[in-house]
Amino acid sequence: MERFYYETPSVSRKADALEYIAEFHRFGSDINGSGGLDRFTDDYEGWLLKLEEDRNLVPDEKKSPAETYFLVRSADKKIVGMVNIRYVLNERLKKYGGNIGYSIRPTERRKGYNKINLYLALKLCRLHGLKKVLLDADTDNPASWRTIEALGGVMLREYFEDEFDHCMVRDYEIDVEKSLERFSHIYEPLLEKT
Ligand SMILES: CC(C)(COP(=O)(O)OP(=O)(O)OC[C@H]1O[C@@H](n2cnc3c(N)ncnc32)[C@H](O)[C@@H]1OP(=O)(O)O)[C@@H](O)C(=O)NCCC(=O)NCCS
Repeated sequence: MERFYYETPSVSRKADALEYIAEFHRFGSDINGSGGLDRFTDDYEGWLLKLEEDRNLVPDEKKSPAETYFLVRSADKKIVGMVNIRYVLNERLKKYGGNIGYSIRPTERRKGYNKINLYLALKLCRLHGLKKVLLDADTDNPASWRTIEALGGVMLREYFEDEFDHCMVRDYEIDVEKSLERFSHIYEPLLEKT
C-alpha cells in the first residue's frame, strides 16, 4: 500500500522542488499551496528564508503565519503535492483563501492524493488547536471542492467573488475533529508512521 507524509522544505530538495513547479508550467496548470515557490524559482534559498519568516509572522490584516510542506510518497520519495496552512485567519483570508491551500502535480492527479493531503493538513490544524477550518474553492474547480466535500466539508455559501479572482466561489467549513474521526479508517493506513 502506498504511504505518504509531509516534509519540511530544505536545501536538499532544491532540484525536486523546482521540477515540481516546472511541471505545472509545462501543463499550464494553476499553482496553489506552494508558499510562493513559483515566484522564487531563481532563488530557492531565498524561498526557504521566506518560509521561515512566514512561520513566525505576527498576524495582522495583511499577513498571517503560515506553514508550507511537500506531500511525499514514501516508496520513491517523490514530491507529489504541496500544502500551505494558515493557522490564523485575518479578514482578508476569511474573505478569500481560508486556512488551507493545496496542489497535486499534474502527472499524479486523480489518484486520491489530494484527499490524503487535506487529511494530513487537518491533523496539523488539530495540533494547533483549530476546531473548524475555512476553505474556499472556485465553483469551476470541482477537483478542489470535491476534495473538501470528501473530507466532510459543509458549504456555507456560493457567490461571485469580485475582488480577487472574479468568478463564482464556494466557501466551506470543516469540523476538524469530526472529519478526522470519520475518515481516519480510510486515511490513517495511508500515512507513513513517523
Ligand atoms: C485540486 C487538486 C489539488 C486535486 O488533486 P487530485 O489529487 O487530483 O484530487 P483527488 O484525486 O484527491 O480527488 C479529489 C476529488 O475530486 C475529484 N476530482 C479530481 N479531479 C477532478 C476533475 N478534474 N474533475 C472533477 N472531479 C475531479 C475526485 O473524483 C475526488 O472526488 P470523489 O472523492 O468524490 O471521487 C489538483 O487538481 C490541483 O493541484 N489543481 C491545481 C491547483 C488547485 O486548483 N488547487 C486548489 C485551489 S486551493
